[in-house]
Amino acid sequence: MSDKRKVVLESKNLVAGYLPGVDILTGCNFKLFKGELVGIIGPNGAGKSTLVKSMFGLVEVRSGTVQLLEEEITNLAAHELVRKGVGYVPQTENVFPSLTVSENLQMGAYQLKATEITERLKNITDLFPRLGERIKQRAGLLSGGERQMLAMGRALMMEPSVLLLDEPSAGLSPALQVDVFENVTAINKTGVSIVMVEQNATRCLKISDRGYVLDQGKNAYDGTGEGLLHDPNVIKLYLGTMAESR
Ligand SMILES: Nc1ncnc2c1ncn2[C@@H]1O[C@H](COP(=O)(O)OP(=O)(O)OP(=O)(O)O)[C@@H](O)[C@H]1O
Ligand SMILES: [Mg+2]
Repeated sequence: MSDKRKVVLESKNLVAGYLPGVDILTGCNFKLFKGELVGIIGPNGAGKSTLVKSMFGLVEVRSGTVQLLEEEITNLAAHELVRKGVGYVPQTENVFPSLTVSENLQMGAYQLKATEITERLKNITDLFPRLGERIKQRAGLLSGGERQMLAMGRALMMEPSVLLLDEPSAGLSPALQVDVFENVTAINKTGVSIVMVEQNATRCLKISDRGYVLDQGKNAYDGTGEGLLHDPNVIKLYLGTMAESR
């Protein structure tokens, strides 16, 4: 079924790492089709953040390739990828606490004209009304869930076609996690193709078209979100304990 769909982002045989001589990813393969929401799950230290960072120019790719539509983008700098329509929300420290909500959003779009900024601020606050209500408040005073909305909103200011999210529900209460997953689904429905790394594996797979399970820097399993949720190996090795810990 997949072959006729357009691939927007693809990694092939990625080897990447931080320290000389220490490879964290040891041959990772990943594909995102246009319009998809794809989840990446796996244990702590599996290399999930590293995979996403390596596709956003933040980790050195030592071999293998990253492709965005028809173009090879391996090791391009993050700001060039933003210009090409890729947005990224890091796992931690993803807002500027001393700046206001409005300033944070504008930081995501500093190259744009004033009229475009106004229009996009309106789009973001339509999507996340709570940000609109707190537009002049300092980001450091927002709740965890509101911060995640702000971090996503900032990435959306550049109207990316591909959005990379690293653990958007981390540290949030179960109720707020539900909000975040609803927000992610809503963003995806606007046509943005999304890659989402998540600790909350079950919830993530429930809303994902497809998923990848990483373990020790490699692909362990992949399939549809539904298929992975019901795969006995995935349940035993990766979903059981995580589900229990919630
Ligand atoms: N900046 C860094 N410098 C050196 N090693 C790093 C760096 N960041 C991550 N690592 C190492 O890379 C490995 C994979 O880390 P990564 O952050 O990709 O895992 P993860 O799957 O995202 O884990 P988590 O679920 O805890 O977020 C770990 O062993 C980690 O110690
Ligand atoms: Mg991580």
